[in-house]
Amino acid sequence: MAKSTPRKTRKSTIDTLRAVLAVHGQEHLLAFWDELDARQRDQLAEQIGQVDWELIAELIPTHVLAEPATKLPQEIQPPPILPYEPTDEAMRKRYAKARAAGEKLIGQGKVAAFVVAGGQGTRLGYDGPKGCLGVSPVQRKSLFALFAEQLLATHRRWGHAVPWYIMTSPANDKATRDYFKANRYFGLSKDDVMFFAQGTMPAIGTDGKLLLAEKDSLALSPNGHGGSLTALAASGALADMAQRGVETISYFQVDNPLVRCVDPLFIGLHHEAKAEMSAKALPKREPLEKLGNFCIVDGKTTVIEYSDMPEDLACATRPDGRLKFSAGSIAIHLFSRTFVERLTKGGRCSLPFHRAIKKVKHIDGAGKHIEPEQPNAVKLEMFVFDALPLAKKSVILETRRLEEFSPVKNATGADSLNTCLHDQVRRAAAWLTAAGHAVPRDAANEVACAIEISPLFALDAAELATRDLSGQVLEPGKPVYLGGE
Ligand code: UTP
Repeated sequence: MAKSTPRKTRKSTIDTLRAVLAVHGQEHLLAFWDELDARQRDQLAEQIGQVDWELIAELIPTHVLAEPATKLPQEIQPPPILPYEPTDEAMRKRYAKARAAGEKLIGQGKVAAFVVAGGQGTRLGYDGPKGCLGVSPVQRKSLFALFAEQLLATHRRWGHAVPWYIMTSPANDKATRDYFKANRYFGLSKDDVMFFAQGTMPAIGTDGKLLLAEKDSLALSPNGHGGSLTALAASGALADMAQRGVETISYFQVDNPLVRCVDPLFIGLHHEAKAEMSAKALPKREPLEKLGNFCIVDGKTTVIEYSDMPEDLACATRPDGRLKFSAGSIAIHLFSRTFVERLTKGGRCSLPFHRAIKKVKHIDGAGKHIEPEQPNAVKLEMFVFDALPLAKKSVILETRRLEEFSPVKNATGADSLNTCLHDQVRRAAAWLTAAGHAVPRDAANEVACAIEISPLFALDAAELATRDLSGQVLEPGKPVYLGGE
């Protein structure tokens, strides 16, 4: 939201708007102008003024009136993936050196955490910013609270605060800021927590006409997690990072409480390889699992969406029977700050737009509210992983599902709060078991009590193993909380 608009919409402004809209065949957006008061006119004028009309004109014929043809490259190869654990002595040395380098960078304040929390969370249907959802198994701490505890623990362990950038959307920005204020930033210094709202894109009817949400406002939605890169630049966050001496940005999504917000090994491997953008990968559960596929296309590391990956490629195997394209993308990335600066130079970041046909509430030509039963409009979004092929160098590090991935996407079923609670308990149980502590299990070998380990008690299994657990007797059905101040 870059440009400012004068308080009163002057005649010249409305004339300019009319002229712009006429060029693009979108005059209907001013159909109710005469009914609006001054404040409403200002709002609508501001929204229309902020639309990138050149971009919209490019996208309507290619992404709204038609479906962009996905051109599959000729040559697609699997990329090299670094294993979760080193497999030989040389790799052990490399990992140890990288971990130490990562720890040093964190201790020097050269790493920032960056969570994208601007999504609409429509599948979950939670009333409020998704990060405020209570997800921890015993204390029902929110996603934001759990990330804050990780960052506090990271600060304590390596001696430097990790600046935390939180991307919101215009729709949830205030609620997010209010939530942090009400919770006193969960013990973090207020000066180390920065919020900014991402950009929006108008929803466009399948006839190519932009939709009005109300007589005085466009139907706008966030421009995708790929919009985070431009938003980092436009908000001043990148400049703030430069001033603080941040070199590496640790990117994660708000819906995954298992994510390691700042991982020294990953950071060290990225740094030592002089990579510009890196990613964590999971071995796919099955060939057609709905995760993006890491590939090498024209020599560049690329993520091909599951929906764009031909089935024969997704299912292709190596001579030993393992999947050829086994690595799925889970939206955990590292960016070098200078890479994001380069991509966003000049204000626009040249990531492609993806179309999604959705049900979008709007008003019709008579001003009547319409709640469509069928998808009626195209939403346009950028995806952050499309930046990967633009990086000169990337590292892909495998991680484990149990350790690091259980997103809350849906209200019920797979990837819901229910599955996420179970996964958090399973990880806590695995850490306790690795530390030699007895964990009760039921007949199906599932953990028989809720367990929550606060990041302030232990950030990982290795740290838990150093804790005194002698007073903790776990019993079936009795919730256990291992916390810290
Ligand atoms: P999802 O793709 O799961 O979308 O976002 P969503 O909006 O949260 O949920 P649905 O699809 O409406 O149900 C993955 C991550 O990217 C962020 C989300 O907040 C989440 O952390 N995101 C997504 C943004 O920050 N901005 C966007 O425009 C889209």
